[in-house]
Amino acid sequence: MGYNPELVFSGNIDFRVRLIELGLFEYSKIKQKELPKSISLSLHLARTPITEDLKIQAEYLDKIEKVINTRDFSSIGLHLTGPRHLGIGQYGFSSHYLPTEEQENNAINFIFELQKKFKLPVWIENANFYSSNFNEIISEYASIEKITKITGCELIVDLSHIIISFANAKIPAAVAIKLINWSNVAEIHLSGVIKGTDGVLHDCHSAKVDTRVWDLFKQIYLLLPKNTFINLEHTDSALVKANVIDEDIARLYTIIDELQLPTHSHYDLNKYVTSHYMKLLKKWIPGLEEAFSEDNLDLQSEIQDWLNFCKYNNICLAIDEFELLLSEKNHVYFAPDHFLKYLKR
Ligand SMILES: [Fe+2]
Repeated sequence: MGYNPELVFSGNIDFRVRLIELGLFEYSKIKQKELPKSISLSLHLARTPITEDLKIQAEYLDKIEKVINTRDFSSIGLHLTGPRHLGIGQYGFSSHYLPTEEQENNAINFIFELQKKFKLPVWIENANFYSSNFNEIISEYASIEKITKITGCELIVDLSHIIISFANAKIPAAVAIKLINWSNVAEIHLSGVIKGTDGVLHDCHSAKVDTRVWDLFKQIYLLLPKNTFINLEHTDSALVKANVIDEDIARLYTIIDELQLPTHSHYDLNKYVTSHYMKLLKKWIPGLEEAFSEDNLDLQSEIQDWLNFCKYNNICLAIDEFELLLSEKNHVYFAPDHFLKYLKR
């Protein structure tokens, strides 16, 4: 889960929570707090000089080193963003990442330095919201893939960011399924989505998980490695009082349980098989239908019984005689021959 002060300080955290993700400010608040031993912390850095020049990066990393105790964390998560002074980044928001060779190399350097300094697994998160077109989206995800390959870091895939960024670029979110290496995912983020007055979608950590986000989650869940962290980014204390967190946790487990059931076909093919054999047997055995009606017998239910008999006795039927092989003569039969044998029995 995302850091939620109400839950952390009331100690009322769901027993299934294994990870709390938090930034430097939240870390300074939580430092003295005893958390259950089953919960680890992930340092989450949303706004860093990840794509900026190496001198700035070194200064930033030195500063972090002074305020954190590495042993408090099990991993570090980073947003892949553009330089902080660009776009709305200038106002303290998240900068859009438009990969250039230089920014990509800076990001690779930053991750290497983090790995070296803190000796923790580093994860990077897709953090663009306001993509203008499909090319921007493709280049963002291609760059993420390249950076992870070179640095060996894993992925945080924020499904809400996908819903928002793809909707803003007018691209179906399902396309993302093909752009991401799901086997390299360490964590999934789920959160709310809000629509601005101008129709643009934005991220929202103070609302329940959006229906479109759940839908995408259902599509990708089985592609994820076992033990992937599923993070409900509910960081607003008011959500605890409104029971939104409990409801979303319940929904998450219902979805996971449903997805883990063995898949059952929603087609009932028995009816099709029986009616097809009705036609074939009438053609193969002249006078069959008449013989049954003379004796007041129901041909259809007889065929059903015969097919059930075959099923429970592991008998395989062939519609084409050429399919019969000597080595299979004890369990593969030409269908009309076997039906007549069954009737005589
Ligand atoms: Fe996120």
